[in-house]
Amino acid sequence: MGRRLEKLRVLVVGGAGYIGSHTVKLLRSQGARVTVLDDLSTGRRFLVQSDDFVEGDLGDRRLTDRLFSSGFDAVMHFAAFSIVGESVQLPLKYYHNNVGKTASLLESMLGHDVERFIFSSTAAVYGEPEEVPITEEHPRRPKNPYGRSKLMVEQMLVDASDAHGMQYAVLRYFNAAGADPSASIGESHEPETHLIPIVLQAAAGKREAVKLYGTDYPTADGTCIRDYIHVNDLAAAHILALESLLDGNDSCAYNLGCGQGYSVRQVIETAKAVTGKDITVVEEQRRKGDPAVLVASSDKIRKELGWSPDYDDLEAIIETAWKWHNRR
Ligand code: UFG
Repeated sequence: MGRRLEKLRVLVVGGAGYIGSHTVKLLRSQGARVTVLDDLSTGRRFLVQSDDFVEGDLGDRRLTDRLFSSGFDAVMHFAAFSIVGESVQLPLKYYHNNVGKTASLLESMLGHDVERFIFSSTAAVYGEPEEVPITEEHPRRPKNPYGRSKLMVEQMLVDASDAHGMQYAVLRYFNAAGADPSASIGESHEPETHLIPIVLQAAAGKREAVKLYGTDYPTADGTCIRDYIHVNDLAAAHILALESLLDGNDSCAYNLGCGQGYSVRQVIETAKAVTGKDITVVEEQRRKGDPAVLVASSDKIRKELGWSPDYDDLEAIIETAWKWHNRR
């Protein structure tokens, strides 16, 4: 990557979150001028990697109109609630925040002639896979309100682009993991629901055990298989997507995973090897709504944008997460 983004003005909504903060760091290293908008409902102030930070609500039209009137070249939108189980309990919270407020952000943005938008979507838009690896052509039939809220925004972008000529890139993340190798930023959810941080908390003695949700899946060791992708490889994909839009290419949607699946047991074994600690595992019933296998085909973004992951094995990913965990 060169410094093609020199002086480009980018508004990063949700830049105090896990993936947003890593992308802000990379954007700034490329010379972009980044403003972060985040309401800190799940984001953390200490993760913000730009001096230009606005604490506020992306659905606050007065605020976003004021921001956009200062002139931006592009928007990256990471801000969303993302816990699948919670979305089943509180669907309207998810539709209001993830869909309604995104519509407001888009209206505000287009009202100020800002026409490039990069959107954090998810493998959850595909629902139960009919075949793996999952390509972008796979039917999108999400199984929970979280996935549906992301799909609704994807559809909104198609319509807004047809009507208003905006350009968008939709990035469908599989399982984001790891931390910047500097260990200055990393994953910090409260409550934590994701496998790798939970396993590392157990390794560090901050949690008694890891609950293993389901051992009777139709997989080699009976546990779920996921495609873990390093957060900096995700960040790099955002830069490439933005450069593609700047080059005048069409709007696009890409899957982002490494194309390699690891079972929950393999994650736990790898974490034991990386940390040198024992990890107690308690076998539990399946967690509702978990597909057995989710593995991405990322051939499209590899071919079209030349993306490839720097971190392509689980051990390297977990090493960065462990370094961050110990630094905190
Ligand atoms: N798991 C455990 N124990 C835990 C936590 C997780 O066994 O304490 C298992 C889960 O059952 C699953 C795997 O570890 O099989 C990975 O679970 P995560 O919660 O880390 O990730 P998910 O695959 O469930 O979810 C991720 C994102 C979601 C997104 C989804 C796409 O976090 O936002 O991928 O399908 F919707």
